[in-house]
Amino acid sequence: MKRDLLGIRDLTTEEIVHLISRSNHYISLLDSEDPFPAVSVLAGRTVANLFFENSTRTRSSFELAERRLGASVLSLSMQTSSLTKGETLLDTVKVITAMRIDAIVVRHQSAGVPQLLRKHLPESIRIINAGDGAGEHPTQALLDAATLIEILGDLKGKHIVISGDISHSRVARSNMMTLTKLGATVTAVGPLTLLPKSIATVFGVRTATSLDEVLPNTDALISLRIQRERQDKAYFPNDQEFRSLYGMTAQRRARFPQLPILHPGPVNRGVELDDESMDSSSSMIFRQVRRGVAVRLAVLEWIFSKN
Ligand code: NCD
Repeated sequence: MKRDLLGIRDLTTEEIVHLISRSNHYISLLDSEDPFPAVSVLAGRTVANLFFENSTRTRSSFELAERRLGASVLSLSMQTSSLTKGETLLDTVKVITAMRIDAIVVRHQSAGVPQLLRKHLPESIRIINAGDGAGEHPTQALLDAATLIEILGDLKGKHIVISGDISHSRVARSNMMTLTKLGATVTAVGPLTLLPKSIATVFGVRTATSLDEVLPNTDALISLRIQRERQDKAYFPNDQEFRSLYGMTAQRRARFPQLPILHPGPVNRGVELDDESMDSSSSMIFRQVRRGVAVRLAVLEWIFSKN
């Protein structure tokens, strides 16, 4: 069976549950004092990481996962590729895949690029979306869900709040789809200018403009970075106002000291999260990073599994 991971949209709940459960297996291997065992699921396979947009954690965790599974890895920063000499996206990707690549992991600033590549590349080449514009970021959503399950147990009936720049965030979109498929109740919170009207019906979530009103009955908070690179005008007056209404400030956290706080990173310190919140024991940021490797191991294994 040939599989891709273009978005959470294409996954069934069973597939999501399977990937999370396999990530638990990999977490135990990563946590063990013993050397990571020689796993050869990807032996003889070559994976190309094509990153047209900057990335630290997503790119390094994909690379680590690929190597741990025995793949040969080619990582390219496409900002410095032939694209800058005027070659088109498709031409560049076709040149790379002509070198006998088995899978590509792609991140691009435009939504829809993974689907475009799927249309034009041979079926034998698997495609994994590592973030497409304001489209989707499926592996981030899987790792967020797995982290939440690690902290809260089964997500059925749990209330998860996603706060911040909902409009421009691919993480918000993939998370809303994943968490609702897992039975959680999701509320997207942000200023009206960053909260598209359609999301309640499209994604089956609640929306709110006041974080303070929703926090008292929230099981976990996913805070999102302001996506300045995708904002074409001022959507809120200034960072101070955003922080005071939507940020996890030290004062706000003092009212909910047990509330787990997730953030995909990178964080604008002092805007989405105060230093105190970011460095507190409620911050799940490093758990998310650790889960990121485990989830990518699970995804790569699944992409290449024969059944
Ligand atoms: C996210 C991304 O790139 O979409 N970050 C990540 O993958 N760790 C979120 C963000 O950039 O805000």
